[in-house]
Amino acid sequence: MIGLNDPYTASHIEEVAELVQSIAAAMGLPDEDIERLALAGFLHDIGKQAIPSSILSKPSALTDEEFALVKTHVAIGVQLLEYANVSPEIIRIVSEHHERLDGSGYPLGLKGEQISLSGQILGIADVISAITSKRTYRLAANRKETIALLNDSCPDQFSPAVVEAAIKCL
Ligand SMILES: [Fe+2]
Ligand SMILES: [Fe+2]
Repeated sequence: MIGLNDPYTASHIEEVAELVQSIAAAMGLPDEDIERLALAGFLHDIGKQAIPSSILSKPSALTDEEFALVKTHVAIGVQLLEYANVSPEIIRIVSEHHERLDGSGYPLGLKGEQISLSGQILGIADVISAITSKRTYRLAANRKETIALLNDSCPDQFSPAVVEAAIKCL
């Protein structure tokens, strides 16, 4: 279903589900956490199903209104997953994937330890998948550029341990 509405998101969620497992394994997290993260990776953008595909695949920059609409995919995803009786642990990870340690993320602007380690891992995997994919409005970042960007995101957006593990996995 995701592939029909938005082919980019379909390949993105597979990539993210792979990446979160590698990062979590590199950090030595238990299998239980790795399995939860894999599922959260597949489900994290499910709320985008409620966003018109004309906005999701818009070749140019989004307007403020369009971006505000795209941001609602987190709350919509959480609602869908609650309705589907997905475990609260997985829903929490999904709900945190756009939050950042310095409070600059969305939807709640959570800060520091309010964001779970798994939420951070999903967040950084999401960023890596996004910047290393070629979109109509920009080129894909190469490995060196990706590492530089991840280092820049540390420690304001992601903790040093998460960034270090993510770079190890690239
Ligand atoms: Fe997202
Ligand atoms: Fe995503």
